[in-house]
Amino acid sequence: MGICYNKEERIFKLDSINSTYIIEIIDTEGFVGHVYYGKRLRDTNLGYLTRSQEYPFTPEKNNRERVSFLDNFPFEYSTHGVGDFREPCLKVKSEDGTSACQLCYKEHSIYKGKPELKGLPASFGSEEECTTLELICIDPYINLEVVLCYTIFEKLDVLTRSIRIRNKGAKPVYLERALSLCMEFEGINFDVISLHGSWARERHIQRRHVELGKYAIGSTRGESSHQEHPFMAIVSRETSQDKGNVYGFNLVYSGDFFAQVEGTQFENIRFVMGIHPENFQWKLSTGEEFVTPEVVSVFSDNGIDGMTHIYHDFYRKHLIRSKYKDKERPILINNWEATYFNFNTEKLLHIAEDASKLGIEMLVMDDGWFGKRNDDNCALGDWFVNEEKLKGGLKYLVQEVNKKGMKFGIWFEPEMISPDSDLYREHPDWAIQINGRKPALSRNQYVLDYSRKDVRDEIYQRIKDIMESAPIAYVKWDMNRALTDLGSNMLQADQQGELSHRYVLGVYELLERFTSEFPDVLLEGCSGGGARFDPGILYYCPQIWCSDDTDAIERLQIQEGTAMVYPLSTIGAHVSDCPNHAVGRSTPFETRGYVALTGTFGYELDVTRISDEDKQLIPKQVELYHTYNNLIRNGDYYRLLSYREEGQYDAWQVVSKDKSEALVFYIQVLKRPNYRSKVLKLKGLEEKFMYSIQGQERILSGGALMYAGIPIENMPHDFEGKLLHVVRV
Ligand code: GLA
Repeated sequence: MGICYNKEERIFKLDSINSTYIIEIIDTEGFVGHVYYGKRLRDTNLGYLTRSQEYPFTPEKNNRERVSFLDNFPFEYSTHGVGDFREPCLKVKSEDGTSACQLCYKEHSIYKGKPELKGLPASFGSEEECTTLELICIDPYINLEVVLCYTIFEKLDVLTRSIRIRNKGAKPVYLERALSLCMEFEGINFDVISLHGSWARERHIQRRHVELGKYAIGSTRGESSHQEHPFMAIVSRETSQDKGNVYGFNLVYSGDFFAQVEGTQFENIRFVMGIHPENFQWKLSTGEEFVTPEVVSVFSDNGIDGMTHIYHDFYRKHLIRSKYKDKERPILINNWEATYFNFNTEKLLHIAEDASKLGIEMLVMDDGWFGKRNDDNCALGDWFVNEEKLKGGLKYLVQEVNKKGMKFGIWFEPEMISPDSDLYREHPDWAIQINGRKPALSRNQYVLDYSRKDVRDEIYQRIKDIMESAPIAYVKWDMNRALTDLGSNMLQADQQGELSHRYVLGVYELLERFTSEFPDVLLEGCSGGGARFDPGILYYCPQIWCSDDTDAIERLQIQEGTAMVYPLSTIGAHVSDCPNHAVGRSTPFETRGYVALTGTFGYELDVTRISDEDKQLIPKQVELYHTYNNLIRNGDYYRLLSYREEGQYDAWQVVSKDKSEALVFYIQVLKRPNYRSKVLKLKGLEEKFMYSIQGQERILSGGALMYAGIPIENMPHDFEGKLLHVVRV
């Protein structure tokens, strides 16, 4: 396993338990070609697959048709301007204004372990866990060195890729695009799965056939976005939830991204992924290096569930750094939907008083505690406690909350500035804007220019002062608008195209500072709900608020899409009050609990005002959380039924790694009249083990539960749910 190089064949073979990836260097010029990615193979001599000697696609013997070769060869990293007319990953403009680039192999190195990506979040692994290949390529005409970095995680069927670009010439060059990954697929008989949405409807799953032509997704909003998601899977047409080949691609980045499948003239696929080129240009001066974010590629031949298991295991072990990733998180109650901006110390303490009696462990004070912030029109940037609202100050409030046996958490939106704020009156030039053009408002706020260190330093200091003024156990780091009017006062004209990426690097730098200085604080990412739920943020935050839509039924699709890639332990989910604030729907309190239990779990309601009936259910839910959170955080997640496809039912399951127990969540979304009970087939159990279902007498084999199934009794109403605990006997 690991990486080997066959010198005679000039073939690199990257192996993990179930997958093989093969690269070939061809021709005297040293083109780097993609040979194979898929199920594990023994052979190293598959170079014939690139068919580089097929006439007229023969670069050496048929120089006359060089363009035919370049436009057909399966490149490991595509470039622009010399004959490959498919999607380029790299486009370089020289100082004379021309742009062309062709990469040729120069040398390589193979070593144990994985390097860090400077300034960027990235997965990590020890020397025992992964091996890295660096293919050093050059374009001698423009003196550009491009290093293609591959790290194979041998036990997990994960391959990560990123690119380092260094200018070795005497003059600056401009990167007009620098994507992270190019992947060629033989044939076109594939489907593509992607995640789409909007505010309150994040990450709905979409599946479609790959056709000739291009299908792209992306974000140019400065964040990974509600609308589209930096994830794509390319799957064989017949692939189902449990069977078939799946290739997943997830970009570890929180800003503008681009991903595209292209059905080419020869009915093959070129897939590319990386930073969106639209708002991107990077000046690379002599000796400078640019590093792209990494793509986490996963191969599974066990269908979509197989891919999901790999991503979950990988992110839990090799991406999230927080000490909380493997721990049960405190059950929190957040006051946003409870009070919005209308709260004070007394109100918060009332909530804390009742919540603590019910077993809730932490109070989170959301937006509205600082400056003159009584609505969302002002004060972002003024990170000073509003003592009119918080009489006695923050320290007093936290002390009183702590006295009730609860921890305390707080909300910040560090990247923003309100035009109506003292910060803006002092530093109007700190907002991202184009000089002379009135910048567009969104939620009545602007975005701070985080490409500037002075801006980051000042905001960090303000946050730090608050953090040090009281024992704060949790922070919700929010971000509530997209970037527009991309201009920075500190960048030269030929570097303005760097702002979007520099902004993201600035956010990462601040998150790094914060997590290093406050490692004991539980940090939750957020962006108008789930607009920045991505692997880049997970590197710093072990959990991310999944959506502002807390309705249990809306959450089914949102959480299904999110959990297809991200571990349940990362999915911010709360029980809120009904009628739901986003959709006006009323669902049973139990159902809201089941849906939230499959995430981080917490409450987002005014516990002093809900019905006694609902209130009495809280200690039961708290108990369920303590009983099952370990299993939910660490187990394998399976999708059983999808409301998206079935219309009426939704069901999922979590199985412990040793298959000794499982939890089954079942939601009867709509009640059908005059209908038989639904037979549910479980997954992931051990065929030969015998299991009992809590509360039932029958003992059944894993085989019976998986292949024959169990009927789920009809429930009297819409939106009702059931939780089954299956235990090995
Ligand atoms: C965003 C978040 C919410 C809440 C508000 C506060 O919308 O997603 O949970 O914190 O901001 O303004």
